[in-house]
Amino acid sequence: MQIEGLEQYRKAGKIASQAREFGIGLIKAGASLSEVTEKIERKILDLGGELAFPTQVSLNDVAAHYCATPDDEKVFSEGDLVKLDLGVHIDGYVADTAITIDLSKDGKHEKLVNAAKEALQNAIKSVKPGVRTAEIGRMIQDSISKYGFAPVRNLGGHGVGRFTVHGPPSIPNYDNGDDTIIEEGMVFAIEPFASTGAGIVYERDDANVFMLTGKKPVRNMMTRSVMKEIEGFNGLPFTERWLVRKGMSLPKINFALKEIDNLGILRKFPPLPDKNNGLVSQAEHTVIVTKDGCEVTTE
Ligand code: CO
Repeated sequence: MQIEGLEQYRKAGKIASQAREFGIGLIKAGASLSEVTEKIERKILDLGGELAFPTQVSLNDVAAHYCATPDDEKVFSEGDLVKLDLGVHIDGYVADTAITIDLSKDGKHEKLVNAAKEALQNAIKSVKPGVRTAEIGRMIQDSISKYGFAPVRNLGGHGVGRFTVHGPPSIPNYDNGDDTIIEEGMVFAIEPFASTGAGIVYERDDANVFMLTGKKPVRNMMTRSVMKEIEGFNGLPFTERWLVRKGMSLPKINFALKEIDNLGILRKFPPLPDKNNGLVSQAEHTVIVTKDGCEVTTE
């Protein structure tokens, strides 16, 4: 079967996995979240990739969507449980991958980290044409429950496409009864999250990950110049740091984002902690469904 963008998906996957491994080496107690994030994103660009979404480092009970701000003073601490989630695209074709790093000295998060990792491995093994997405979800749920943890039910895997990070099919982290069938040629990310808490996440604090969802005329000159840069992200998620990198000041960026938000064309992705403040681990790979299984692009 001919898959549109196959070589680009593979190249994006390879760069994403190299950047992920590079990132693991940087995430240490005392390191700054914003510096580490900048270095990982620089690495992706140096390897010839483009950023499919802002690199995120979410700590402890936060499952996802913590993205360092330009003036972020947070540093990693000993004992932290860190989810590194990054995305690369080549000519729009996306690779999405994540891993959890245990910064405890005594490996106290090991079981939780392994639960998400094993769930991902088992899910990947179960992918082939004809399988229902709910069956993949059941595989994830069973793997995580076996460890005594809860799968995060309101987060899940997602189809990726050209300049699309979140499309169909949805790959649930539990058996949600959905009848969607996996087909050859589908490209999607699988991302089990294991929690010691509720296994439900909610939106907390201000977002630093944004996405433009439409086009509207902008009168203000300052906002218009920021908008022009944002349009260059081709509808993919972005963050304030990317605009600072383009030479804009933070007050100008924040002013413009507020204006764009008021126009109703800015989607915001706030950090997602567990409802009961449980610790959360994550593992994620992007796969291409083949005739009798799948190819992992971010291995
Ligand atoms: Co993802």
